[in-house]
Formats: sequence, C-alpha cells, structure tokens
Amino acid sequence: MHEVVQDYYGKQLQSTADLKTTACCDISSLPEWLKPLLGRIHPEVLSRYYGCGLVCPSLLEGCRVLDLGCGSGRDVYALAQLVGPTGEVVGVDMTNEQLAVAQAHQGWHTETFGYGNVRFIKGYIEKLDELDLEPGSFDVIVSNCVVNLSPEKAAVLAGVERLLKPGGEFYFSDVYADRRVPEAVRNDTVLYGECLGGALYWNDFLRLANAAGFVDPRLVEDRPLEVTDSALAAQTGNLRFFSATYRLFKLDGLESACEDYGQAVIYKGTIPNNPHRFTLDKHHAIETGRVFPVCGNTWRMLHDTRFANHFTFIGDFSHHFGLFEGCGSVMPFDTATNSAEASPCC
Ligand SMILES: C[S@@+](CC[C@H](N)C(=O)[O-])C[C@H]1O[C@@H](n2cnc3c(N)ncnc32)[C@H](O)[C@@H]1O
Repeated sequence: MHEVVQDYYGKQLQSTADLKTTACCDISSLPEWLKPLLGRIHPEVLSRYYGCGLVCPSLLEGCRVLDLGCGSGRDVYALAQLVGPTGEVVGVDMTNEQLAVAQAHQGWHTETFGYGNVRFIKGYIEKLDELDLEPGSFDVIVSNCVVNLSPEKAAVLAGVERLLKPGGEFYFSDVYADRRVPEAVRNDTVLYGECLGGALYWNDFLRLANAAGFVDPRLVEDRPLEVTDSALAAQTGNLRFFSATYRLFKLDGLESACEDYGQAVIYKGTIPNNPHRFTLDKHHAIETGRVFPVCGNTWRMLHDTRFANHFTFIGDFSHHFGLFEGCGSVMPFDTATNSAEASPCC
C-alpha cells in the first residue's frame, strides 16, 4: 500500500480541491488564535493540506514536536510558531513530492517567523527507529490523517511510544469506521487514498493503543464524515466514518478504568489561549477557579505532564472509593439487599 499512497499524494492529487470525498478536509471551525498563525504560512503549503482535524494541543512553547506524515508541512509550520524559537518541530513523510513543497518554503518561513526551528526527514512512520531520532526525546507527537494510511498501525504506535518522553503525548487526528472495514473497501485504491479504506474500527484502535502501552486513550473531538461521491458511497454501503482526535499519554500508573481516589484539581487559567477553561478531552472542560473532581487517570494526565504548573492538586492516592462515576463503566453488582428477588439463592 505504500506505493499506492505515494502515488496518490505525490502524483494524483495536486491540491486539496482534488480530493474525492470530504474525509481529508478539515471543516471543523478554526479557533481564532490559530488564524493569524495560518496567515503566516506560504499559500502553496496551505493549498496541499490534506488533514482531517486540528493537531495543535495547548502549551507547546519550548517543546520538541514530531509530525508523522507531515505532507507539505502546514501543521509543521503552524506548530513551529507555537513552540517558538526555543522549540523544534520535525516532520516525517515518505512522499518526495510532498516533502519537496515543504522544504521549498523552509527559508521563506524562517524569514517570516524570524527564526528557523523545523526539519523535514524522508521516512516511513512504521520504521521510526531507522531515522536519526533519539528515543524519549519528544514532548509531543502529532499526526493528521495519516495513521489510517499505514498498513502497520501497531508498528506506528510502538515507534511513537519509543520516541515520546515520559509524560509526553501522541495528539492526532484520524479517520475511524463504526465497524471493521471489509476487504473490498480496504483494497480499493481510491478509497484507501481518500483515508477511508485503511480506517480502523474505533474499538480495534482502542485495543491497539492499549497493547502499545497507551492506557485510557482520551477522545478530544470528533465529527461524522460524509462520502459525497455517489460511486464511492455505493462501495462503502452502510459503513459510517468519523474524523476523531485522540490524545494518548505516555504515563506510568494509568489504569484501564477511571478509579475514584477522591481527588480534585483547580485550573489556574494560565495556559495561553485558555483563560476561562482548559479542555483536556471531550468530557473534561475544566473551568478556571472551580474545584473539579477527577479520577486518578485524569489527575496523572495533569500532574505528571507539562500541564502540572497550571493546576492546584487536591488529594492523593491513599484512599480508593471505587469506580469514578460518570466515566462510562459501572459496578456490575446489584446493590439491593432486602428483597427475595435481589438475592434468590439464600
Ligand atoms: C492525508 S495526507 C496528510 C498530510 C498532512 N498531515 C496534512 O495534514 O496535510 C497523508 C500524508 O501521509 C504520508 N504518509 C502516508 N503513509 C505514510 C507512511 N507509512 N510513512 C510516511 N508517510 C506516510 C503521505 O505521503 C501524505 O503526505
């Protein structure tokens, strides 16, 4: 499939307008703070943007960031402004034509930003260990509509885990299906190139992430995708596709379920562009100044990461109170004790 994808992004597509579905177009509304950053990116780079989400997490100043499947470099150049002159962004892609566009405008961006802090490397995201990148050296790894195109997704996650610092995160947007994609759809080169054929069934993705050591993946945002081309829609039938952004933290001590230790956090309102609330994920929008009860995993995602200085932490892990309510899973036992129906055996 590597050759099919290289041909698709290197030769078939010339710009975002050539896409045959909306799968790889980011139609989510852009936050205001991002618009001036995109305004400083070269038009040719922007015209070859094929992402499906937003991969600019908060608090990146001074960070080392890696972009897997960076394409022509739109996200690399946006992230370069967020990490600033003390940070670095490295883009990896396997397609010469995409990298050529990214590299052609490197000098132009250095001049526009007033500093040069990006680097592009040709390589396969399944073989990150073959690139000259030091293990445990990245704060954040991002990727935008690429993992679905990889024939070896487990190898990608293993490489990410190896390159992240402890407390670092993989923050990435991708396409997922509501069920396992049948072989006929998977083997269609256009559907594969359009980011649908290689999409993972979402629950298989969660299993893969857990197997790679990323416990408790957090969904940040999602939207349904439409297959607008009628011939492609006929081929995909009842399959439904979604664009989703997940964050996977490399953290020791995360548990497979959200456990309640009676802990809470208070957000200080100090993360740039987030004065009123900090959104960790789809279920955690933490208002400034409010005592916000959290499970042990959320506590670690805030306490053992770059976010720590922006929170006050209440409690510890010394008392366990069972499952954290409202996190999806519930205790399997009946709690009624006084009726014959509730305890038929004794
Ligand atoms: C849908 S485009 C997204 C590009 C970019 N992230 C963006 O948002 O514009 C997919 C990109 O991933 C690259 N790619 C796909 N599979 C890859 C792999 N296995 N290794 C490296 N790059 C890959 C392609 O060459 C292409 O540039």
